Amino acid sequence: MGRDVVIFDTTLRDGEQAPGNSMTPEAKLRLARQLDRLGVDVIEAGFPSASEGDFNGVHAIAAAVQRPIIAALARCHDRDIDRAGEALRPAARGRIHVFIATSDLHLEHKLRLTREQCLERARAAVQRARGFTGDVEFSAEDATRTDPEFLCRVVEAAIDAGATTVNLPDTVGYATPAEYGAMFRTVQARVPGSERAVFSAHCHDDLGLAVANSLAAIEAGAGQVECTINGIGERAGNAALEEIVVAGRVRPEAVAFRCGVHTPELFRTSQLLSHVTGIFPQPNKAIVGRNAFAHEAGIHQHGMIQNGLTYEIIRPEEVGVPRSTLVLGKHSGRHALERRYQQLGYELDDATLDNLYQEFTALADKKREILDEDLLALLHGRFHDAPEAYRLARLEVTCGTVAATAAVSLGGPWAGERRATGNGNGPIAAAFAAVGELAGRSIEVLNLIVQSVTPGRDSLGQVLVQVKVDGKSLSGHGASTDIVEASTRALVHALNKASHADELEGQSLNATYFWGV
Ligand code: KIV
Ligand code: ZN
Repeated sequence: MGRDVVIFDTTLRDGEQAPGNSMTPEAKLRLARQLDRLGVDVIEAGFPSASEGDFNGVHAIAAAVQRPIIAALARCHDRDIDRAGEALRPAARGRIHVFIATSDLHLEHKLRLTREQCLERARAAVQRARGFTGDVEFSAEDATRTDPEFLCRVVEAAIDAGATTVNLPDTVGYATPAEYGAMFRTVQARVPGSERAVFSAHCHDDLGLAVANSLAAIEAGAGQVECTINGIGERAGNAALEEIVVAGRVRPEAVAFRCGVHTPELFRTSQLLSHVTGIFPQPNKAIVGRNAFAHEAGIHQHGMIQNGLTYEIIRPEEVGVPRSTLVLGKHSGRHALERRYQQLGYELDDATLDNLYQEFTALADKKREILDEDLLALLHGRFHDAPEAYRLARLEVTCGTVAATAAVSLGGPWAGERRATGNGNGPIAAAFAAVGELAGRSIEVLNLIVQSVTPGRDSLGQVLVQVKVDGKSLSGHGASTDIVEASTRALVHALNKASHADELEGQSLNATYFWGV
């Protein structure tokens, strides 16, 4: 079965850093709880010195999630390290993760440091971090483009100073599996004292090789892999956690490692992340894409009926993908709904269940068969990360081959409801114009994705909208059997997030990271 490998999840830090993935502190906490259920060993919760919001997010997760190690990122700066240490104060097990770029390219053009200065900063940063915790990770950013001699010197200095984990990131996704594996072998063989630290892989996917590189690093002795749910992250993303873990489970003879991830939680974690960020993985995404277990071609379907192993190397339930099941209908009661949610893994409080039951009965009036996917869409639709400042009360649209008009009534931070009409080249544009007028905010639509939740003409439509509200990038989610209504609900959701963001004084939903010294 191979060695134990530490699964270090950086969805809430490297993943969140990518445009469109920003999350509120509440959403991060919800995801952290789910990552705990998933069984990851380390949750990198954020970069506390980047903003008050990030600091609070890390602090809240450290206080609430006690089984996994909670890591906080810091540059090799005293202030960053102190902020990370403070944010981690409530953690049962906290890790400070310090990093500095080591390639000449970054040293000359970004940091304007000599190699000797870089070495000194790395040493001093690890020592300072050790003042807060015995668990310190050091990352040599852009390790794969660093002179191997110098890389070995920095790693040796970091270990001497007390680093317990040493991460060698492929920051720009440049390496191939053979090269990445060779780097781990070389550094571990050449650095005196390397056996005192756990070596870690951290791969970006610019060449589509992040998972392959991570597996190569494990083969070459890495004891930790850093990865994200759905592979989200800077540019082309990070190595996808679900792909690494499932590769190890399906091919233990080829990829020999053990980890504590509970794979039936994978799909739920992926869905939760998608609903929080508004970004779904592409349909053909391995393990968690909506087509990952769909068999279209007749010849494949025939094979599957004879024996599932013909075309299926993973059973959907092993990774928590629900088989489409007819679960409930118009006459099902509140208890049946509660029981089905329990079977899907959700314990709901009474208030949430009451609200969901209302939505469920309204949906059952429009849709004959209610499937698990519908129930999950309703539930995720309630994961509003923000209090309801605006509420869609009524929507009427007129559209056809001529320009569209929409009349929208909104409840809002004013007494009662207000109504406005808007025009557009289609019903969604018209509804958005009316909402924009009512909210009195500038709304720029960046992207709008409509997806049917289940097959069939009466399916729920799920809409994810990415917008800029007064310059702030946000996403919103809405579901309805009518896609104009679902889109309007998604926009209202984004507006609620914007209002909430305004309220979180001093916090930036859109934290931009400053990587220079
Ligand atoms: O990609 C990278 O180098 C990083 C480091 C901060 C670990 O994310
Ligand atoms: Zn990274």
